[in-house]
Amino acid sequence: MRFAGGIAIFAATVAGCGPTTASSSAEDLVPSEPTMINYGDPSQVNGLDVHTVTGDGPGDQRVHAVYPSLEGAPRLTGKLHRTVAEWLDRFNHGTLGNAPGEKAWETASPAHPEFNVDWQLAAVSSQVIGVRLRIGRSAGADWVEARTTVWYDRVDTRALDSDALLRGRPELAELAVLVKGRLAGSRPEVNPGVIRPEAELFDSLAFNPRGDLVVEFDDHQVASASHGRVAVAVPASEVGPLLSATGVRAQRAAVKAVAGMGAVSPQRTIRETSIPRPRAESSQAGSVDCAKAKCVALTYDDGPGPGTGRLLDVLGGHRARATFFSTGTNASAYPELLRRMMREGHLVGNHTWSHRDLTSLTDSKATDQIDRAQCAITRAIGQVPGLLRPPYGVTDGRTASVAGRLGLTLVGWSVDTGDERGADAKTVADRAVAGAGRGSVILLHDVRGSAVEATPDILRRLGRKGYTFVTVPELYGSQGMRAGGIYGSEGGPAAPGRPAMP
Ligand code: NI
Repeated sequence: MRFAGGIAIFAATVAGCGPTTASSSAEDLVPSEPTMINYGDPSQVNGLDVHTVTGDGPGDQRVHAVYPSLEGAPRLTGKLHRTVAEWLDRFNHGTLGNAPGEKAWETASPAHPEFNVDWQLAAVSSQVIGVRLRIGRSAGADWVEARTTVWYDRVDTRALDSDALLRGRPELAELAVLVKGRLAGSRPEVNPGVIRPEAELFDSLAFNPRGDLVVEFDDHQVASASHGRVAVAVPASEVGPLLSATGVRAQRAAVKAVAGMGAVSPQRTIRETSIPRPRAESSQAGSVDCAKAKCVALTYDDGPGPGTGRLLDVLGGHRARATFFSTGTNASAYPELLRRMMREGHLVGNHTWSHRDLTSLTDSKATDQIDRAQCAITRAIGQVPGLLRPPYGVTDGRTASVAGRLGLTLVGWSVDTGDERGADAKTVADRAVAGAGRGSVILLHDVRGSAVEATPDILRRLGRKGYTFVTVPELYGSQGMRAGGIYGSEGGPAAPGRPAMP
């Protein structure tokens, strides 16, 4: 990572537990870095929910996008939804990469093109909320990211593009001049000549804790993608006269966050994460002997989400327990639901930070994806997850060794209910019941309405067949699960009472 004169060019590096619960990557962890944005803590925002978009069509594409909604702010939710849908549509039609300043779409595409969106809160106050979307996708052999920040003015209930932080066109032109000046001569790979006063180029504006305006560009817009994020901080004194009323509110929200609202102080986090934590275990582990009882493990991925609370009510009503593989981003947004899971005898496992295909990443990026989710979950539940479900169920020897080094056991599944590919609740329940056997691991998603709806039926029908619903490690009982090993899928180590599969 390098920076000079308010310009930052970052390469991805391995991060530990960062200073904010929603921190997006190592790029955000350098306190002296002027383009650092202090992200707000989503769990402190009333009425915030997270929506998940996954690819439910056929084909080899790996799609996972999350964005927040805010109760009472349908315009914000609608704008975020449209933004994600438009990018996804362009991805699906192969037209990404043709945007101004971007390289042409590469012809050599990977076997499984991937599309991934995660988000942070650029600022939160009673007057304004800023949602920064990070939109990544594979482009040939490369990984390319775009950044866009949508603002919601709570005073006049408008959802706005970033350029609305400025008074108007003349102010955008002035900002372009300021940014161009700062980029000029900064680094040879940056080309300030492409900077023009266009809203599309200035679609990710936010403020650092000092109130300086942070202008972020997409990969390829002003430098080649291999140089990562390019951002410029324009000092508050220069940018002040350019700001609209919403811009002033956004700036105040970012500065105020430092005074303690919404952001977690680095000092506190370092103390918290240096405390040794016990390995996560169900509070009811040991209450069932699966060598004797007919056990099955229900697993729910990708959450928590808006339906997870309802699902926990249903499971509790049937005295059934499950394993939840949570993403780090959602763990940050719903820490209380994770705590509730643990209180009620369920188990929380790791599903990576933002649901990337681990086999497509370098070891350090894969470690980063896993480790940041570990941090977010540990922070929520006070215990360290011991299980990892790799996104899309894809894994290889390298992923297993990375997981093993981090002390994690990989968990696959033996029954796929198809909920993620759009199956309705009845089909999801039928598949779960038809596929279940002693020691089965059943794949469901708590972000899918069909899976939540199907669960009462699954519990009733399998219950009648004499099944007990336990967490994944309980299936393996005293034989335990080995870090770096792959369990749960056909071909993996057999649970007691279940014959090994070829
Ligand atoms: Ni998943």
